[in-house]
Amino acid sequence: MVCTKALLTLCVGALLQALPVYSRVDKRGNVCTVVPEGNGRDDSPSIISAFAQCKKDASVVFLNRTYHVERVMSTHGLRNVTVDVKGTLLWGTNTTYWINNSLPLGYQNQSVAWDFGGDNIFWTGHGYGTFDGNGQIWYDLANGASNMFGRPINLVIRNTTNFTMQDMRFVQSQFWTMAVHTAENLLLERITIRSVSNSSASTLNTDGIDTFYTNNITLRNWDVTEGDDAVAPKANTSNLLIQDSHFRDGSGVAIGSIGQYPGMYEFIENVTAERIVCDRCRHAGYVKTWTGVQKGVPPNGGGGGVGYVKNIVFRDFNVTNITDSVAQITQCTSFEGQTGDCDTSTFQISNVTWSNISGTVSNNLLATLQCSGAAPCPDIVVEGVDGLVFNSASARPDVECSHVTLGPGSVACNGNATRV
Ligand SMILES: *[C@@H]1O[C@H](CO)[C@@H](O)[C@H](O)[C@H]1NC(C)=O
Ligand SMILES: *[C@@H]1O[C@H](CO)[C@@H](O)[C@H](O)[C@H]1NC(C)=O
Ligand SMILES: *[C@@H]1O[C@H](CO)[C@@H](O)[C@H](O)[C@H]1NC(C)=O
Ligand SMILES: *[C@@H]1O[C@H](CO)[C@@H](O)[C@H](O)[C@H]1NC(C)=O
Ligand SMILES: *[C@@H]1O[C@H](CO)[C@@H](O)[C@H](O)[C@H]1NC(C)=O
Ligand SMILES: *[C@@H]1O[C@H](CO)[C@@H](O)[C@H](O)[C@H]1NC(C)=O
Ligand SMILES: *[C@@H]1O[C@H](CO)[C@@H](O)[C@H](O)[C@H]1NC(C)=O
Ligand SMILES: *[C@@H]1O[C@H](CO)[C@@H](O)[C@H](O)[C@H]1NC(C)=O
Ligand SMILES: *[C@@H]1O[C@H](CO)[C@@H](O)[C@H](O)[C@H]1NC(C)=O
Ligand SMILES: *[C@@H]1O[C@H](CO)[C@@H](O)[C@H](O)[C@H]1NC(C)=O
Ligand SMILES: *[C@@H]1O[C@H](CO)[C@@H](O)[C@H](O)[C@H]1NC(C)=O
Ligand SMILES: *[C@@H]1O[C@H](CO)[C@@H](O)[C@H](O)[C@H]1NC(C)=O
Repeated sequence: MVCTKALLTLCVGALLQALPVYSRVDKRGNVCTVVPEGNGRDDSPSIISAFAQCKKDASVVFLNRTYHVERVMSTHGLRNVTVDVKGTLLWGTNTTYWINNSLPLGYQNQSVAWDFGGDNIFWTGHGYGTFDGNGQIWYDLANGASNMFGRPINLVIRNTTNFTMQDMRFVQSQFWTMAVHTAENLLLERITIRSVSNSSASTLNTDGIDTFYTNNITLRNWDVTEGDDAVAPKANTSNLLIQDSHFRDGSGVAIGSIGQYPGMYEFIENVTAERIVCDRCRHAGYVKTWTGVQKGVPPNGGGGGVGYVKNIVFRDFNVTNITDSVAQITQCTSFEGQTGDCDTSTFQISNVTWSNISGTVSNNLLATLQCSGAAPCPDIVVEGVDGLVFNSASARPDVECSHVTLGPGSVACNGNATRV
């Protein structure tokens, strides 16, 4: 419009509206560079704006600077976009805000800080691009309580196909570092995760990555230090491959938990974890389902789900100081503090193999395989474990079983799995 004097007020208004007042994006051609506000000011409007302006056949660039993220972000519908992270995204510590505003994951009543998705995405962090969740404030706030409401997963990759992420670092995640929900054909490689508490509060729930409704994901060359499951495929995960990774201090590779929603049919099929180094992990690999009796509601309660877990392989592990059993199955997961009903789950676990595992174990537990009396587990194999050194060299390692049928080549059971 032509700005005559009479129209001045209108023009200024229009100009102000046209200007992205709270966002600083340097758009040149199909490259949107997010320019940090500086002085600790919130960069989330700029980040959202950059993904809106460079949504298709484009790149979004983060400079080697610190970006402050004080608000939830949802950036979806991207097509053929490169995300180039050279700096650090630092999440804000206003827990009141996050608890009230973090976005729903759509499962287990969990929530997220950044909900991201699209097709044909290439994301690189060059080995130094970093997400810093400022997690200590959350570790102290939760102080060991599991699944605190509103405590956000840092990033969910959702409704996404053909996605590659390389060379990113994630430190001090608020809760789980990542989730993937409804996605196919993902490769995430050379990913470093480190969530460590500097207080007496634990880093419970700082999982590396949890997957839901996903197919064909490869995780390669991950280095994960945290206090819970390094990788945890959950509902309707198929064809997940985990390779050449180093996990420290958490619980190892967890299949599940699953079967938390009464009557709901879910599965986990074709998961292989191979060439893994695990230091001080609770288990090398384990499988966990809820009992058949619902007690409480998700995230911390549930049970009575149906479905199956099958074709799971944990092979070529090098472990140091495993703190619980090397191999575990439990169908006894229940509402916090509740016990019993371990023979009630009808969730069917079959064809799970632990193979070629060497290293050291801090106790005498090779395997604790507790399947439900209502759905015994066939084709369970624990083999190639002669290279394991247990705490007590003289005693035979315990292989505790309950309602398990071992497949050919497996070590034999020598006790009853009564542990839950
Ligand atoms: C993807 O986007 C890039 C620009 O970032 C463009 O050069 C390329 O042609 C696009 N690919 C397709 C298949 O459209
Ligand atoms: C990022 O910037 C800092 C200084 O602000 C510099 O020390 C560092 O080397 C830079 N990193 C890279 C990878 O360019
Ligand atoms: C998922 O993405 C597709 C393609 O981008 C879009 O059409 C669809 O609406 C999205 N679905 C949901 C549930 O957001
Ligand atoms: C934290 O967020 C809450 C809710 O959004 C807001 O009321 C409060 O002023 C914020 N506190 C600080 C210190 O910014
Ligand atoms: C949480 O959000 C609700 C609704 O948006 C609002 O009424 C309430 O004041 C907020 N509480 C805090 C602590 O920010
Ligand atoms: C994803 O990649 C597959 C295999 O290359 C291709 O068939 C499919 O069309 C791609 N999907 C999208 C949404 O581009
Ligand atoms: C699985 O995903 C990868 C990308 O990570 C892709 O190259 C491959 O074609 C996909 N496999 C199938 C069977 O679609
Ligand atoms: C699991 O892998 C087998 C081949 O090993 C394949 O036949 C089957 O379709 C896969 N299952 C799923 C759900 O993709
Ligand atoms: C058991 O799982 C392995 C690994 O996925 C697979 O190769 C094999 O075919 C499965 N066996 C049966 C009987 O399904
Ligand atoms: C196991 O890993 C340790 C380092 O974590 C390494 O020193 C050792 O050589 C590895 N052993 C095997 C058999 O790969
Ligand atoms: C394993 O435990 C031994 C004995 O306590 C200790 O000397 C060693 O440093 C531990 N190694 C790791 C990788 O934790
Ligand atoms: C396990 O318990 C059953 C009955 O409770 C008993 O018959 C069996 O001998 C026990 N097996 C071992 C290996 O202790």
